[in-house]
Amino acid sequence: MSPVKHTDGMLKPGTFDGKTVVITGGGTGLGRSVGHYLLTLGANLVICGRRQQVIEKAAAELAQETGGKVLGQACDVRQPDQVEALLSAAFERFGAVDCLLNNAAGNFICPTERLSYNAVNTVVDIVLKGTYNCTLALGKRWIADRRAGSVLSIGTTYAWTGSGYVLPSAMGKGGVLIMTRSLAAEWGKYGIRLNVIAPGPFPTEGAWSRLMPPGLDGMFASEKRIPLGRLGEHQELANLAAYLLSEYSAYITGTCVTIDGGEWLRGAGEFNALEEVTSEQWDALQAAMKPKK
Ligand code: HXC
Ligand code: NAP
Repeated sequence: MSPVKHTDGMLKPGTFDGKTVVITGGGTGLGRSVGHYLLTLGANLVICGRRQQVIEKAAAELAQETGGKVLGQACDVRQPDQVEALLSAAFERFGAVDCLLNNAAGNFICPTERLSYNAVNTVVDIVLKGTYNCTLALGKRWIADRRAGSVLSIGTTYAWTGSGYVLPSAMGKGGVLIMTRSLAAEWGKYGIRLNVIAPGPFPTEGAWSRLMPPGLDGMFASEKRIPLGRLGEHQELANLAAYLLSEYSAYITGTCVTIDGGEWLRGAGEFNALEEVTSEQWDALQAAMKPKK
């Protein structure tokens, strides 16, 4: 039996001692789970979201659960002045910022021809503009202060395959991937690293309430869609995020790590649908199709 479980924390205690990490959208879902784990590894944490009450409550709970230091501040990442105010508060409280997790997002399913211009703008602005607002604001400070830094953005696997019914999110996430690769090439000389995680399905209230159509959730049955046959656990994503933000990944930049149990490849491979064929059907098919010696 393996001495480790996939739901165990992976990194050494103290990995983030003295480091300050900003997580956008850190009051809920995956951002909150990553924040919790980083606090247990010694980080100071800054979280933001649009809803002040949600952020204040999450900050208080995270500090209480871990004994760590958490600054929670309402901030709409689409607004550069609010992003600057968030960073100023972070620098004032903790002296510096070392890492950024671009996690805030907006998304919902909708046939594209039914989307209003405002609906498209809203999602693209949160996902893409929010990500580059935060990245540029912090990057400029790091370059001016001659400080190294690590940026991680939460992407999606449809950033490169595309996907119907979530067009604005797909366009935004595709842009985040290209921003990451572009800046990894340009800002390596400043000691700034940028990477992306592309998760498959990890249950959160925010995603499930907007993306899993009531009554149609059978379409997304994990045992049918995911080669590894299950949904992701938050600690698995937190482990990967912590690694990519930490010094352990000091030679990794401009990459996108997929953590989806093989889901996107299962959908991409032309013949993977043959998974549905039973052993008896294979017997009959091979008897009919395999050349006889
Ligand atoms: C069609 C919709 C819609 C829907 C909103 N709109 N929801 N159109 N179908 N389901 C339209 C509205 O009518 C409006 O256009 C415009 O979008 C803006 O909507 P508002 O409600 O005014 O905006 P706001 O309150 O700012 O809410 C933003 C939001 C919302 C993106 C629409 O869903 C949100 O707050 N999301 C944040 C969290 C989130 O999305 N989490 C999930 C991330 S999961 P009009 O023209 O009427 O003004 C994810 C993972 C994907 O990204 C991969 C999973 C495997
Ligand atoms: P979530 O809980 O809804 O997280 C989204 C967060 O973003 C919320 O805390 C929300 O808070 C914040 N946010 C939205 N708009 C914002 C804005 N303009 N400014 C600041 N904060 C904003 O959903 P999640 O599932 O954890 O998603 C987290 C990340 O993982 C997203 O990038 C998502 O695309 C990605 N992802 C998730 C999955 C999955 O299966 N869960 C799969 C692939 C990728 P407010 O509403 O208070 O602003």
